[in-house]
Amino acid sequence: MEPGDQARLIVVSNRLPLVLNAREDGGWDAKASSGGLISALVPVLRRRGGVWIGWPGTTEATREEVEPALAAMSETYGCTFKPVMFTQQEMEGFYFGFSNEVIWPLFHDLFTNCNFQPDYWKTYQEVNRKFAAAVAEVARPGDFLWVHDYHLMDLASELRRMGLPSRAGFFLHTPFPPLEIFLRLPWRFEILRNLLEFNLIGFQTLRDRRNFLTCIKVLFNVRVKGTGSVVRVQVPAFGAEPAAMGPGPAQVAQTVSVGAFPIGIDFHAVAGLAARPEVRAKAQALKNDIRGRQMILGVDRLDYTKGLPNKLQAFRNALHHYPELHHRVNLVQHVVPSRKEIPDYRQLRLELEHLIGQINGEFTESGWVPIHYMFHNLGAEDLAAYYLAADIALVTSLKDGMNLVAKEYCAAQIEQAGVLILSEFAGAAAQLQRGALLVNPYDIDGVAAAIQRAFTMPDKERRERMRLLRRTVRTEDVFRWADAFLGATAKGGVAHLTNLEDYLPSAST
Ligand code: F6P
Repeated sequence: MEPGDQARLIVVSNRLPLVLNAREDGGWDAKASSGGLISALVPVLRRRGGVWIGWPGTTEATREEVEPALAAMSETYGCTFKPVMFTQQEMEGFYFGFSNEVIWPLFHDLFTNCNFQPDYWKTYQEVNRKFAAAVAEVARPGDFLWVHDYHLMDLASELRRMGLPSRAGFFLHTPFPPLEIFLRLPWRFEILRNLLEFNLIGFQTLRDRRNFLTCIKVLFNVRVKGTGSVVRVQVPAFGAEPAAMGPGPAQVAQTVSVGAFPIGIDFHAVAGLAARPEVRAKAQALKNDIRGRQMILGVDRLDYTKGLPNKLQAFRNALHHYPELHHRVNLVQHVVPSRKEIPDYRQLRLELEHLIGQINGEFTESGWVPIHYMFHNLGAEDLAAYYLAADIALVTSLKDGMNLVAKEYCAAQIEQAGVLILSEFAGAAAQLQRGALLVNPYDIDGVAAAIQRAFTMPDKERRERMRLLRRTVRTEDVFRWADAFLGATAKGGVAHLTNLEDYLPSAST
């Protein structure tokens, strides 16, 4: 489907989808980051003529220094990449501070990890204003603005304040928390009110949308119309000051669409990579390295939301309860460095490495070290080889917007015999519940039992489950996601995602 209309598109995200590398001569090179978002959005940007605005990922270079690299990338991709640069103080207050020490933990229900510093909020507003100024430099009347993620929840409001009311959609890549968690946020009214300045607000799952609707109903007494995957919310006219807000009937100022649009991946790109002879050869070499044992694969960014300690404890339990696993499985755990300036992340790394040391110390025997742990960035080809080689993928997020590792694993399973063990609190659980073994990551005995079940699962059942999983991941891909979101922005637009059933834990799963 073509997006809803053909207005020019401006995409805004905290990070530009690229990686910058310093050259020896002092210049910079940019290369596209891997991932579905760029494959889905660049063709739309190219077709509609568009601009992608975001931070290029470094505070070490000036705007003038990175511009030639971005111009070269713009040339390659046929759309413009425009940088927003941060000062060190903005990095601390906006990115590490408000975005990743307030909103990130809060939206993952982990409010005890929040650091509600008033200065962070001030810098968050300033940086949203800075992004709005960058939009104002390129926006033309009629453009459609697509804003991504929790870093930029104030953007539409800042644009209106500048007298630049654009048609704008917002997509939240993380979960949205339940009311009783959201209410902890000291700036709860401001954030919600600013979000309601967007014309369309998209969430990953019905769970997140339900949480958001509950919050705006309780805090602003809004009316919700419709029942489909996109509903309409009648937003009251707010006073200029936060003090003027609060529950109570008010005049309807605008109508906002609110939908669930589970993000997908570029299935064919991942499956195609896994099918390449050099990737197959790497996968075979990885299998040989573990001498025919089953590979249980974990690939997670270093983040306390990923449930890494739970995963390790569950694996330890599995080795305790099911001694037949000894010498017959390896947990191959890749941890990707992330947000290392934040104390909780540094602490987590220490905790993990301590735990891995303990487990390996307890179970290692001559010829078998149960956990292979790597703390590094993994290239796309190596990652595809691990996905292809793995007999079991283990995802134990405590809460996750979607979890694309789960989907990539399925796409790369071209031999179709791998088992996916997936946390029921990952957004992907709603779509993948029929093929995956769903687990509660807090139930470390339950996860251990799922490991044992996957290990002993007959080939026929493995293939049947993986076939279902791959069908969903192939159909509900990132292109469909982009079309559904953009389609919903058009008047009368319809979301074409079908696989939206909410996942509700039940005794039978
Ligand atoms: O899920 C939210 C997200 O922003 C992803 O888009 C990104 O991959 C991840 O978190 C890490 O983000 P960053 O390194 O920019 O903080």
